[in-house]
Formats: sequence, C-alpha cells, structure tokens
Amino acid sequence: MNKVVLAFSGGLDTTVCVKLLEEKYNLSVITVCVDVGQGEKNVKKAEDVANEIGVFKHYTVDAREEFADDFISKGIKANAVYEGYPLSTAFARPLIAMKIIEIAENEDAVAIAHGCTGKGNDQFRFESIIRSMSDFKIIAPIRELNLTRKEEQEYAKVHNIPLSPESRFSIDENIWGRSIEGDVIENPAFEVPDEAYEWVKSNAQANKEAEKISIEFEHGIPIAINNEKLDLIDLIAKLNTIAGDNGIGKIDIIEDRMVGLKSREVYEVPAATIITKSHKGLESLIFTKDELRYIDYLSPLYADLVYNALWHEPLREDLNKSIDHMQRRITGKIVLSLFKGHISILSRESKFSLHDIKQVSFEDKETDQREIEGMIKYHGIQASIYQKQKH
Ligand code: ARG
Repeated sequence: MNKVVLAFSGGLDTTVCVKLLEEKYNLSVITVCVDVGQGEKNVKKAEDVANEIGVFKHYTVDAREEFADDFISKGIKANAVYEGYPLSTAFARPLIAMKIIEIAENEDAVAIAHGCTGKGNDQFRFESIIRSMSDFKIIAPIRELNLTRKEEQEYAKVHNIPLSPESRFSIDENIWGRSIEGDVIENPAFEVPDEAYEWVKSNAQANKEAEKISIEFEHGIPIAINNEKLDLIDLIAKLNTIAGDNGIGKIDIIEDRMVGLKSREVYEVPAATIITKSHKGLESLIFTKDELRYIDYLSPLYADLVYNALWHEPLREDLNKSIDHMQRRITGKIVLSLFKGHISILSRESKFSLHDIKQVSFEDKETDQREIEGMIKYHGIQASIYQKQKH
C-alpha cells in the first residue's frame, strides 16, 4: 500500500485524519510528531494515540533546540508580534514541515498530509514549505471533506478514536506559546472560560508578592536569568513558569487571518511577553532614535511575512540579515518586577548604551544650556514662516 506521512499531534483533527487517510484515501499512514517544546505530556500523548489507533509507523522528532536557535531567536530579535500576538505557531510550522519532508523522502511516501482546516493559516504555512522544498502531493482531509469539528467528533466516536476532554478547543502548543481556538472562544461576545488556560495563572491564583528578576541579553538573545546562564530553550522554559506563576502572558485578541476572516484568538505566551518587553526595553537604551523608528517599521513587516506563511520569501531573509547586524549591540541587562499580570522595568544597563548621564543630568554642566538657545531659534523655522503668512 502507498504510504503517506502525516504531521501528527494526537489531537482531534490529526487523529481523525489517520482514519480518513486509511479509509477514504486508501493509504498507509506514518505519523510524525515534531517536538517543538509542546511538553513531554503532549509528545507522549501523540505517541500513545498513534499506538492506540494502530498507525503503520510513528516518529517523534526532537526539534526543540533547532526551533529555539533558528526560529524563536529570529522572532526575539525582530520583536515579531502580529496584531498583539508574539508569533509562536507561525514560527513552528515551517520547521515541522521541513522535518516531515525529510521523513517522507526517507520513507518513500507518495504524499504528505496535514490536519489543518480550510479556514486557518496553518494550511498555508505547511504547504508553502512543502511546495518550495519538494514535489510531494499534499493531502488535507479536513479541508477536502469540508468537515466541522462536530462532524470530526462524531466520526471519532464511530471509529473508536480516543479523545481528550480538552479537545473541545483547538490547541496548538510549542515552547514559545500556546494558542487556543474554537468552541465558545469563537464568539467574541463570550468570555473565555478559565479552563482554556493552562500556562498562565489567573490574577487570583498568581503569586501574592511581586517577583524581581534579571535578564541578560547578548546580541539580542537572552542568555541568563538571575545571573544563571541557560541555553535559549531552557531559559524560555524557566521563564514560562516564572511568568505564568505571576499571571503574565494571556492574550485575547481579534485577529485578521490570512483568508480574510476576523477571528477571536486566545494565547498564552508568558516567556514571549517578558522577553519581548525586555528586548525592546534594552533596544530603547542602545539604538539611536532613527534605528528605533526603523525597527518599529520593520517589526510588523517581518511579523506579517512570518504570519502569512512566507518563510521562504527572500525579503524575510534580507530582513533577518539586517536585523542581525543591528542586534550585535543589543547586549546588556534588564531588571523587572512581575506582579499579577504586570511587568515593570526597574532598571537597564548596557556597555553599548547611548544614554549619557553627564549630558542629560540636571546637576551637570557638561551640556552648556546656553548653547541650546541657538538650536531653538532655528527649530521649526519653516512652520514659523508659514504661520506669519496671510493665507
Ligand atoms: N491563529 C494562530 C496563528 O495563525 C494560531 C493557530 C494555531 N492553531 C490552532 N490549532 N490553535 O498563528
């Protein structure tokens, strides 16, 4: 029988896909769970579900370090935030697709399959990578059969497919964030139920005392928390816990999807929220005013490319080159206070700081105030001429 390789999480969509691919497409299914830091529990779940439903073969690919070093790091340096959401799913999809292609090649598969719906962004992200890196035929059973989640749940029941209680929501997790969609969350007029959240404590349950932490950055990347040096992946994991315990990182937004639909989306991005804020905090000390304006222009442009499934677009690579060059100075330390969902920057320092205490201090004479008078005289000279004209 011909083989298909399926990107697999063990959730509702991908589990239903296994049976559909066997039944309706007559294929033998190889499932692949790419570990991008979704947690041992979830990786194990994928393995267990694959075994339980009896797939032809199951792979777990540990891509955590690669994800942190080659994808998240770029997101951090670029402050890649899309409509208020530090991009997480959008960074993981290209890597997952790349790993699936490798396995499909080794297994001599005839096709690659994914469980994305026809309404979301992930189908674009998987398929643009698969098309730009291979000639595999792509199968998207949920989209091709136009299935609703209800229909999938019914299909699962009939086929004895095991479902976990949280399958009420459509969840995607990786070390950089957890995204939750579907069910009551779909309606922006409804409040998000507490059980949708897993990583970030409610303010009522968050730590009662403010927590002070320090983060050190080198060339734009966080390298230590509280003076403890950590690999990026471990640093993010640690920060997810610290931030989550302090109620930091819940995001509830109306998002503009690629297909043009507005959707209500909920995210848990504890470490990403702290790192983005700290990174920008350090940039404000180190970048010139013009560099800051440029980075504020460039960040949404970069985030749009990543969100819009254009990882292989040359501009994305060009922007990364330019950002890397700028980030070589983003080295320094920032101290924060975390308290019930709030982050306050307490202090920042860097050997590349452009802040000059002598020049700016009201107590110092280094900058001679009298010299500024000349600057003021000619400031806005065109506006002043214009105002004096009779129009
Ligand atoms: N809307 C987000 C994005 O496009 C998250 C999609 C994640 N998928 C999911 N099944 N919840 O990046």
